[in-house]
Amino acid sequence: MERTLILLKPDCVHRRLVGSIVHRFEQKGLRLAGMKLVQVSRGLAEQHYAVHKGKPFYESLLKFIVSGPTLALVLEGREAVAVARHLIGATDGAKAAPGTIRGDFALSVQNNLIHGSDSTDNAATEVALWFKPEELVTFQPVDSPWIVGG
Ligand code: RTP
Ligand code: MG
Repeated sequence: MERTLILLKPDCVHRRLVGSIVHRFEQKGLRLAGMKLVQVSRGLAEQHYAVHKGKPFYESLLKFIVSGPTLALVLEGREAVAVARHLIGATDGAKAAPGTIRGDFALSVQNNLIHGSDSTDNAATEVALWFKPEELVTFQPVDSPWIVGG
């Protein structure tokens, strides 16, 4: 089953939106495989956002990510990477479709509440960057047959 890395960024924690957003993923049928509250270091932020190094928003983005607590999640389920990205919505909160997380809760480009891995390869790299293997939990939710279907 596919896994994805989700980060609820410092604006999400400060705005007390963690419960509302985790609720959406649970309602969709994705399963929690890992969860922890992290005060992100500059080093971890640099590794996570290495792909954006040199872009005009890079320094501001790093400052934002280390500015408060981040809730890191691993979610698992059928097509978890794409499903989570669809639920999250477009990067710019002002342009994200209503019904998506950013569309409903964000108005900023940078302070857009949440990160989701953008490919299965990146998801595997990001899960390994943020979580030790022993921090991930495997179990079969009791309603799995109803979620997965035939
Ligand atoms: P994420 O990686 O956080 O899931 O977001 P994303 O794929 O939708 O967007 P990406 O292009 O990867 O950008 C990473 C994060 O950088 C901030 N950003 N700021 N000021 C700007 O123009 C700008 N562009 C991007 C956002 O926090 C974005 O989520
Ligand atoms: Mg991205």
